[in-house]
Amino acid sequence: MSVDLQSLEKIPRHVALIMDGNGRWAQERGLSRIEGHKEGAQSVRAVLRAAAQAGVEFITVYAFSTENWKRPPAEVEGLMKLLVHSLNEYEQELHENKIRLRVMGQFERLPLPVRMRLQKTIDATADYTDHTLVIALSYGSRTELADATKAIAEKVKSGEMKVKEINEETIANHLYLPDVPDPELMIRTSGELRLSNFLLWQLSYSEFYITDTYWPDFREEQFFHALEAFNGRDRRYGGVKKV
Ligand code: FPP
Repeated sequence: MSVDLQSLEKIPRHVALIMDGNGRWAQERGLSRIEGHKEGAQSVRAVLRAAAQAGVEFITVYAFSTENWKRPPAEVEGLMKLLVHSLNEYEQELHENKIRLRVMGQFERLPLPVRMRLQKTIDATADYTDHTLVIALSYGSRTELADATKAIAEKVKSGEMKVKEINEETIANHLYLPDVPDPELMIRTSGELRLSNFLLWQLSYSEFYITDTYWPDFREEQFFHALEAFNGRDRRYGGVKKV
C-alpha cells in the first residue's frame, strides 16, 4: 500500500542509510557485483528524490567503508568509477532540489580523479541550505573517534583546553561533520543486524529500521515506508513515556 506523506506527523531531519545487498541482488540475477552497485546508485538517486519530497534535510549514505579497501581491486576500482559516473548523473538533480553535497571519511585516501570530481560538486553546491547529501567514503566510525581523540589531545597538549573541560559536546564537536545533526533514523537494507562501524557516536539514540529488501530494490516507496514506521515509534531517550 502506498504511504500518504501528508499523514506523517514527524519527519526526521536526518536519515542515515547502510546500503547493503548489492552483491546478493546481482548474484541472484547472474550478474556481476558491479552491476548490483550500479543499480544501487539508482536507489541513491530515488532516495534523494523521496527525501526532498518528504522534507528530510540530511541524508547520509554509507558508500565505502575503511574495510571496503580489502575488496578485490577490480571491485574497488569499479566502485570508484561508479562514484564519478553517479556524480555526473546526479548533478542536475542536486541543483534542482538544492542539495548540498558533503563527504565524510578519509578523503585523502581516495584516488585523485575521484577527489577532484567530488570537490567540483562539493564547491558547486556549497551554498545550498535546504538539503544535504553526505556520502561516507573510506569512512569508519572508530577511526573518526580516534581522530577526534587525537585532535582533543593536541588541544590539551598546547594548553588550549583543560582535561576537566572535556565532555560529550567536546567529542561531538571534533567529529568529521560537527554541524550535521545526529540521525533520528537509520535504515539498513538486506536484513543484516549490524552497525558495521557506521556512525557509532551519532546513532546513540536513533531509531533503526531494518528491511530484508536488497539496496537496489529500495526506492521511493520503500523509503516512505521507513518514514511511516518511524512515525509509529515512541522515542523516549531513556526517559519515561508521556501520558
Ligand atoms: C554494500 O553491498 C554496498 C556497498 C559496499 C557499496 C555501496 C555503493 C553504492 C550503492 C553505489 C554508489 C554510491 C553512491 C553514493 C553514488 P554489498 O556489496 O556488501 O552487498 P552484499 O552484502 O550482498 O555482497
